[in-house]
Amino acid sequence: MRQPTAVESRGVDEILAVHELRRSFGGVRALTGCSFGVERGSITALIGPNGAGKTTLANVVAGASRPQSGQVVFDGRDVTGRPSHEVALGGLIRTFQISREYPAMTVLENLMVSPQRQAGEKLSTVLFHPRRFRSEERRHLERAVEVLAEFGLYEKRNDYARNLSGGQKRLLELARAVMADPKMLVIDEPMAGINPALIERLADHIIRLRDARGTTFLMVEHNLDVVERMCDKVVVMAVGQTLATGTMAELRGNAAVVSAYLTGGVVDVRAQG
Ligand SMILES: Nc1ncnc2c1ncn2[C@@H]1O[C@H](COP(=O)(O)OP(=O)(O)OP(=O)(O)O)[C@@H](O)[C@H]1O
Ligand SMILES: [Mg+2]
Repeated sequence: MRQPTAVESRGVDEILAVHELRRSFGGVRALTGCSFGVERGSITALIGPNGAGKTTLANVVAGASRPQSGQVVFDGRDVTGRPSHEVALGGLIRTFQISREYPAMTVLENLMVSPQRQAGEKLSTVLFHPRRFRSEERRHLERAVEVLAEFGLYEKRNDYARNLSGGQKRLLELARAVMADPKMLVIDEPMAGINPALIERLADHIIRLRDARGTTFLMVEHNLDVVERMCDKVVVMAVGQTLATGTMAELRGNAAVVSAYLTGGVVDVRAQG
C-alpha cells in the first residue's frame, strides 16, 4: 500500500504532480522551477507563449529528458529521471510530439507493434511456449481490431499508414497509445495542422477516453477555443514556470494571465505578480 500524498489528503486525487522542475539547455533556462498538479480523470490543458517550456515539461514528465532538479510524482511514485519506457510501463505515455506511425506498415500492423508489447515478444516464449505465444498474439489482434473500430479506422486496417490523411494519422497515433491501456496521456499540440472537422473528431475521442476509460490527459494546446471546449483545468506556463492554474473562466479574470498570454502581450509576467 502506498502512502497518500499530501495533496490527496486534502481531497484532490492528483495523478501527476511536478515540483520545482528545472531544466536548462546550455544557457537557456527552459524550466525555472515549475510546479503544478493534474487531477486524475481530467483533461488538463497546458498553455503558454512560444518558448514557455511546455514541450520541455512534457519531455521531462514522460522521461524523455532529465531535469537538473525537482521532482515528478506519477500515480504515487517518484519517477523523476526514470527512462520513458519505464514511465510508460507505469501508465504514462506521451504522444503526438512527432508522428511516429510506421509508414510502410498497415494500420492494423501499426497497432500490433504498439508500446508495451506483451510476453509474445520474448524469444524464449516464442521458442518454448508456442501455444502461449499464439494465444497472446490472438488476444492482441482482437484488441487491435476492437481499438480500430473504436476509432473508426477499421475500414482502413489494410491501408498503409503512409496513405492516411494527416488527421487519420493523428487518430492512429491515439489508437496506438490506447493499445497500451495508459492511465495518462501527455499530448503535445495534437490539433496542430489538422482541419476543423478533424479537430472536432479528435476532441470527441479524447473526451470519450476520459469519460469511458477514465484516462487523464495533459494536453499542450495553443487553440483556446479547443481548450475552452475540452479541458477541465488549465495550467498557464510562462518563462519556464507556472503562472496560474484554474478553469478558463477563472483565468480570464486573471490580469497577469491576460496580459501574458490571452492577449499575446507581455512576456515577463513574473514582474506582475
Ligand atoms: N534541446 C534543446 N536545446 C536547446 N534549447 C532548447 C531545447 N529544447 C528547448 N529549448 C529552449 O527552451 C525553451 C523552451 O522550449 P520549449 O520547446 O519547451 O517551449 P514550448 O513552450 O514548447 O514552445 P512552443 O509553444 O513554441 O512549442 C526555448 O527557449 C527553447 O528554445
Ligand atoms: Mg512546444
